[in-house]
Amino acid sequence: MTDVAFARVLHVLAVVLWIGGVGMVTTVLLPSIRSLYPPAERFAVFHALETRFARQARITTAFTGASGFYMVWRLRAWDRFHTPGFWWMHAMVMTWMVFTLMLFVIEPLFLESLLARQAAMAAEATYRRIEWFHRLLLALSLLTVAGAVAGSLGLNLFD
Ligand code: HEM
Repeated sequence: MTDVAFARVLHVLAVVLWIGGVGMVTTVLLPSIRSLYPPAERFAVFHALETRFARQARITTAFTGASGFYMVWRLRAWDRFHTPGFWWMHAMVMTWMVFTLMLFVIEPLFLESLLARQAAMAAEATYRRIEWFHRLLLALSLLTVAGAVAGSLGLNLFD
């Protein structure tokens, strides 16, 4: 069972780095750029700073997914995905899928250039959209963490 404990430690460390980073970007970086730069410059500054975090997040999401699926396989826990009480298992996979798609597919393929074009035409509205999207992702991530911590102890947040 030591391998499961090791996977769990790796899982939580990856989640801490990744979701902690999302919290930092949402609650510190984005509001600071808003107050320090005029609308026309905000997207370029945000993009330059966030690129480094995105690189890190690609690694931490990969570790989270690999360690997570390893635990599901080792604990023979696939049937949890058929039980509504294990909503937090679905939440983990859904949150992971949203970020994985964003980081590996949507952002590099077209979102980056689309946002750059939109920011050139409507800087304020585009920046506001980016802020709201990050708040939404952070809320989803925190709900997932809360559900998983309670759920893995056999407790249900909504009972
Ligand atoms: C492919 C995606 C994922 C899979 C397959 C997965 C799977 C798992 C499994 C099997 C456990 C152990 C549950 C138990 O002990 O009963 C676990 C724990 C946990 N996971 Fe995930 N997970 C994934 C993604 C995520 C994400 C995205 C987050 C956070 C946003 C997350 C946060 C946690 C936390 C906080 C724990 C509980 C740690 C503890 O209290 O000991 N996981 N995960």
